[in-house]
Amino acid sequence: MDTLSFEDRVVVVTGAGRGIGRAHSLLLAARGAQVVVADLGASVDGSGVDGDDPAGDVVAEIRAAGGQAVACRADVSTETGATTIVDSAVKEFGRLDAVINNAGIVRTGSFEAIPAEEFQRHLNVHFFGSLFMCRAAWPHLIASGSGRVVNTISAAMLGNPLMAHYGSSKGAVFALTRNLAVEGAEHGILVNSLAPGAGTRMAENSAESLSPEVMEYMRTQLLPEHVAPVAAYLIHPTCQVTGEIFNAAGGGVSRTAVVTTPGIRETDLTIETVAERFDEVMALTSEARPEVVIAP
Ligand SMILES: NC(=O)c1ccc[n+]([C@@H]2O[C@H](COP(=O)([O-])OP(=O)(O)OC[C@H]3O[C@@H](n4cnc5c(N)ncnc54)[C@H](O)[C@@H]3O)[C@@H](O)[C@H]2O)c1
Repeated sequence: MDTLSFEDRVVVVTGAGRGIGRAHSLLLAARGAQVVVADLGASVDGSGVDGDDPAGDVVAEIRAAGGQAVACRADVSTETGATTIVDSAVKEFGRLDAVINNAGIVRTGSFEAIPAEEFQRHLNVHFFGSLFMCRAAWPHLIASGSGRVVNTISAAMLGNPLMAHYGSSKGAVFALTRNLAVEGAEHGILVNSLAPGAGTRMAENSAESLSPEVMEYMRTQLLPEHVAPVAAYLIHPTCQVTGEIFNAAGGGVSRTAVVTTPGIRETDLTIETVAERFDEVMALTSEARPEVVIAP
């Protein structure tokens, strides 16, 4: 297969100063993309801002290797911050073709102990961050003709210990992905979600919810560089899939599908019928239907 090039593609990567977002940016820039490296320099739990400038560091790295990039130190969780990021793409490179919403925070804690503000903060960064970025980018993605969005979710949205706030905010991002995939289709904008796994700063901060063996495995075997090729493919103009969930970790790539079973239908449905025929409601038979935005 020919090498997939990103020449003439302008891409915004949020949370691009560290971990997985940094790997996305380095790979895309190495393949010719013009990259806006957006990172606030937030602390891992989003409670504050670190003194360093990770976005500036990544841009220096890209430029030293001969690539094109610009740093933007704005907050995705505000409409103003998201607009600033999109504006910097248009001002610096004249267009915008793809957004990888990757900025994220985490703090573990039990459902009963986590205060409501923590739920809000996770929604602000993950859900509203992705929403504000997509809203600001949308007209430019329409103008691109091959607009692409990757929203970063997490396997934790399917259920993880001590992550009700984090996981549910990622679930909201998946629902946003599906709905934007529906609205984007007529404009050629394809929107997918990506659940990564990598031994980053964030993973270290989630260690409480992971076994020591899993943590060590993540540190040594699950590298951010294993995730980047999947995000990059999903924003390439040749990739035609939309509204899906992909998983990427340690070189493994898979799809998680939402499936509806054939179930049962009875006009005189009673509680007892539901109880008696519950196995049929649950059965993943060959007629079970994957819920897709565009039929393959
Ligand atoms: N590491 C994993 O195994 C894993 C698993 C599932 C999902 N994820 C998701 O992958 C993404 C990247 O995570 P990572 O592991 O590289 O984490 P990381 O902490 O190494 O990097 C996240 C970056 O996001 C930035 N950021 C946070 N809030 C921001 C805001 N409001 N505005 C702009 N930038 C902001 C931070 O400054 C940081 O540089 C996150 O969305 C995370 O939820 C990671």
